[in-house]
Amino acid sequence: VNGKIEIPVVVNVLYRTAAENISDARIQSQIDVLNKDFNALNSDYNSVPALFSGVKANVGITFVLDQIIRKSTTKTSWGTNDAVKKVAQGGLAPTSPTTKLNLWSCTIGGGILGYAQFPGGASATDGVVIDSKYLGLAGSASAPYNLGRTATHEVGHWMNLRHIWGDANCGSDLVTDTPTHNTANYGVPAYPHYSTCTGTPVEMTMNYMDYVDDNAMYMFSQGQKNRISAIFATGGPRAAFGI
Ligand code: ARG
Ligand code: ZN
Ligand code: CA
Repeated sequence: VNGKIEIPVVVNVLYRTAAENISDARIQSQIDVLNKDFNALNSDYNSVPALFSGVKANVGITFVLDQIIRKSTTKTSWGTNDAVKKVAQGGLAPTSPTTKLNLWSCTIGGGILGYAQFPGGASATDGVVIDSKYLGLAGSASAPYNLGRTATHEVGHWMNLRHIWGDANCGSDLVTDTPTHNTANYGVPAYPHYSTCTGTPVEMTMNYMDYVDDNAMYMFSQGQKNRISAIFATGGPRAAFGI
């Protein structure tokens, strides 16, 4: 990414209750968080420990709110089976998914904060789903997931980033500058937290691709940035977004 990639964002709001019908301002606050987190403009970026200062990265991608589409529903929860993306199931189909990031806001249920589709999947289901309780900053955003970082994490997946623990004990996230983690971390881990994996590295618990609280995650790494750049480059699965 040469710092010149701009992603139009279409926000699809599925609501039954007034609380689920989140405001335009709340949606814009989420776009603002994405712009901070993906441009190293987040106020906690300077909290990255010195150990990782050499690998912390400004991803350099800008998000622009393109349009907000709202639809009322009688469904109380949508689950993770992509029904929310299908008109035949009461949802909203994505708008121009090969050139715009579609974000769905709804009640997912089951304690799920959000989920995303990796690059290379079907266009009809491409994008990220965020539970409305955890989207944006204002109103009823629910602590400790009230800083808009569920979307940062999910958009990270949409840009091909894996969980930092590789979804396995001492698994790999396919990024070399992130340490090997035992498993997911939660809450606000004390620093330093040592892995018991090979080499017993200090874990990068403050990475957006861990499972910690919103106020405990505040960096991407250079290796993650490189992985992101590759999907937007010529020949990459999201090349249509342009560099
Ligand atoms: N996919 C994760 C889940 O729903 C999202 C975790 C986001 N973490 C956060 N601090 N916001 O379980
Ligand atoms: Zn995840
Ligand atoms: Ca790694």
